Amino acid sequence: MKNILTVIGARPQIIKAAAVSRAIREGFSTELNEVILHTGQHYDEKMSNVFFNELEIPRPDHQLDVGSGSHGAQTAKMLSGIEEVLLKDKIDALLVYGDTNSTLAGALAAAKLHIPVVHVEAGLRSFNKSMPEEINRIACDHASTLLFSPTTTGFDNLKNEGFSTKNEGVISIDNPGVFHCGDVMYDNSLYFSKKASRTIQADAFQLTTDKFVLVTIHRPYNTDDIDRLKAILDDLAWLANEEEIELVVPLHPRTKNRLMQESADHYNAFASNPRIHVIEPVSFLEMIWLEKNCSLVVTDSGGVQKEAYFFKKPSVVIRTETEWTELVAHGSAELSFETGEAMRRVFSTSLNKKFNEFPQVFGDGKASSFICEMITTHL
Ligand code: UD1
Ligand code: UDP
Repeated sequence: MKNILTVIGARPQIIKAAAVSRAIREGFSTELNEVILHTGQHYDEKMSNVFFNELEIPRPDHQLDVGSGSHGAQTAKMLSGIEEVLLKDKIDALLVYGDTNSTLAGALAAAKLHIPVVHVEAGLRSFNKSMPEEINRIACDHASTLLFSPTTTGFDNLKNEGFSTKNEGVISIDNPGVFHCGDVMYDNSLYFSKKASRTIQADAFQLTTDKFVLVTIHRPYNTDDIDRLKAILDDLAWLANEEEIELVVPLHPRTKNRLMQESADHYNAFASNPRIHVIEPVSFLEMIWLEKNCSLVVTDSGGVQKEAYFFKKPSVVIRTETEWTELVAHGSAELSFETGEAMRRVFSTSLNKKFNEFPQVFGDGKASSFICEMITTHL
């Protein structure tokens, strides 16, 4: 029996961990003992706790409660907390997801103790190192022993960085195993989509038509500059008014805090538009319901742009580039960064896009069990 320490902390990781944790319980419980550590990077009820019951994730064995802070301070607290657990619990391998500060801290702590790191969602690159996530991804991939890429693009990025994908001989940090396995988020969307229903919060606001746009915004480059954030809100309000369509906006706390501190009047004017429903972050099942039933997704989230594709919806991605290049190549996702006329034009044209085919580029819904199989084979 191997002890695997799963490190989670931010919302998308908690959701991704649900898929692999389920695969361990269903098929690998005699080989793998999962120990869960929550760094506390996200801590609001609706950013963390809500997911555990709903997604059948075991409660964390360790809770670091690091909270918010600057990158250095937050990552440092995580590093020392994770190191302590790695030593105390006799951990054989550490499992991390994605590209947040929790991912980086987990990978660094384990690699320095010569404990193999398993990175799920390896190889993704925006080629924009001003994003904290890009630094986290690169550092984590190069400290990992098993790397699982969700897409061929990610797999090719790793090859281009010098990783061998032969997977021969003894797998180690100096001879890592690199696999293209599909996306655990796709596993989740398939599994939970049957359970998604219109639940309490979605009923708490009244949609007057069955057409609506789902909006999420949280990236630093869209929120840190308050003038830019206000311009995005203005373009969204234009979309609601001009196209006479309602918007559902589960607002990330980062974005809400920024607006309340810097421009509460602007926020209040936006949120009081009768066509715009600004709500608290929703649970994953509520989110899936919104994604399945909306007409268009507007987002800067990595996960939400992919889920738009899973549920065959057009999306506008408020970024200059994306790691999920397949979505843009397909045409259902369009990048839009410049606010004003340009963004408004993309909103309107995207609303009327129709696609018959959404090729399966994110695997077959079984990425999680493949990951468990490779962990048991190679570590
Ligand atoms: C983090 C990740 C980002 C990911 C996002 C998912 C990093 C560097 N960034 O960004 O990659 O896309 O999570 O949502 O790891 N806050 C609260 N309550 C919470 C959590 C955050 O109020 O429960 C507020 C705090 O003001 C905090 C701010 O949000 O300072 C930012 O939180 P943080 O975790 O640092 O970064 P995110 O923007 O959430
Ligand atoms: N999500 C959710 N509730 C929300 C917003 C997002 O459950 O109110 C889910 C979403 O369905 C996806 C994940 O959170 O699975 C994406 O996380 P986020 O946008 O915070 O981060 P990113 O993917 O950009 O790192």
